[in-house]
Amino acid sequence: MNILITEAEIGERIGQLGRQIEADYQGRPLTIVAILTGSLIVLADLIRKIQLPLRVALLQASSYKGATTSAGALIINESFAPDVAGRDVLLLDDILDTGHTLNTLVHRMADRGALSVKTAVLLRKKGRQEIAIEPDYCGFEIPDAFVVGYGLDYDDDYRHLPYVAVLPQLQGSGVDSDETGHYVRRTPQQ
Ligand code: XMP
Repeated sequence: MNILITEAEIGERIGQLGRQIEADYQGRPLTIVAILTGSLIVLADLIRKIQLPLRVALLQASSYKGATTSAGALIINESFAPDVAGRDVLLLDDILDTGHTLNTLVHRMADRGALSVKTAVLLRKKGRQEIAIEPDYCGFEIPDAFVVGYGLDYDDDYRHLPYVAVLPQLQGSGVDSDETGHYVRRTPQQ
């Protein structure tokens, strides 16, 4: 396991982001909408660093890549989503990769009547973005590698690691996401 970002580095950066968010919102109530499942850990740590009137809500988003659906179509489950009308919303995701997820959800929150919509990501992968979206808050920029830990999974494992790491056996192996949005190893035929 190649550790890319240590537990201490993450902790320090989350503290900085919390202070920055507090300063920007200047006491105004904030609704953090976290995107499941990868952002669970950063959500838990970040909200404890923010001294603002705060609501937390959850959305589930996954890129459906099944045979009958066009690649990358986004499935959004809003079962736990709050009423964001008239509220300042901060969308929180684990990683900004192509940008499709965050971009779609920014528009969704605006359509639901949010007063403002900002975005925060723990990680931003360099060289992969397809949609021009600038996160308002970003923990770390990382190289184009598949990472796990601190909420991020491979085949639903490794989320519980306290650091962010590159799985050596995945480097250059052509990982892809399955129908639930989880990354799996694909054979060349698939
Ligand atoms: P987009 O492409 O919409 O994707 O910005 C964001 C989602 O893709 C997943 N993702 C990863 N998950 N390790 C992971 O565990 C990675 O290196 C990785 N890159 C992208 C993630 O679910 C994120 O929410």
